[in-house]
Amino acid sequence: QPEQDLVNRRILISAGGTREPLDPVRFLGNRSSGKQGVALAEAARARGGLVTLVACNLEVPAPDGVHVVQAGSARDLQEALSASAASADVIIMAAAVADYRPTDVRSEKIKKEHTGDTLTLELVKNPDILAELSAACRPGQVIVGFAAETESDPDRLLTLGREKVTRKGCDYLVVNRVGWSEGFATDRNTVLLLDRHGVIVKEASGSKMSVAHRILDVVVQTRLP
Ligand code: C5P
Repeated sequence: QPEQDLVNRRILISAGGTREPLDPVRFLGNRSSGKQGVALAEAARARGGLVTLVACNLEVPAPDGVHVVQAGSARDLQEALSASAASADVIIMAAAVADYRPTDVRSEKIKKEHTGDTLTLELVKNPDILAELSAACRPGQVIVGFAAETESDPDRLLTLGREKVTRKGCDYLVVNRVGWSEGFATDRNTVLLLDRHGVIVKEASGSKMSVAHRILDVVVQTRLP
């Protein structure tokens, strides 16, 4: 039984990967399984938190005892989060959100007979939900973002993380390296936790559940009112 240090705290977590529709049967997606976000939801629940999990196309089941809201695309996610963000004490954006979506979603299936040998897709930028939530952050609220990078040089990874935490304006950024066999879809993870100044406040490696608890350890030590 973990320490009950999140009792009555409202914890809002997004997990999984968004899917941006192209036509009624196709989408642009990513390799996020949702495992780390689901582990965070389970860990926060185990510590007494009142957890809302915004689930984006999860490949794993949502844990018991958490309120689950489904969201498919980035804009669905934005809408789902807007309903609970203001009342949340902690917001953790573990979902992999598509940076772009198709400019127009076809109402009929795109047919190769009509498009020929090449097909050009036009994409438009999605809202940066984490940056928006961070800008609207109220005193006492803690906002955690994630950075999944394919960069293998540790110094470069850290530099990218520092740039990102500044750009997003969140309180903490969980930086991990993802590739074909790390981060996404695996049961283990290795992360660095940066604070808003880019200082490394924690390094954690192990099961996604143990990494989830180490992230929450940092959150509970923060200015929760
Ligand atoms: O910019 P990048 O996608 O690497 O940032 C990752 C972080 O930002 C994650 O926490 C992700 O949930 C969030 N994000 C977002 N809205 C976007 C893109 C990413 O909230 N459009």
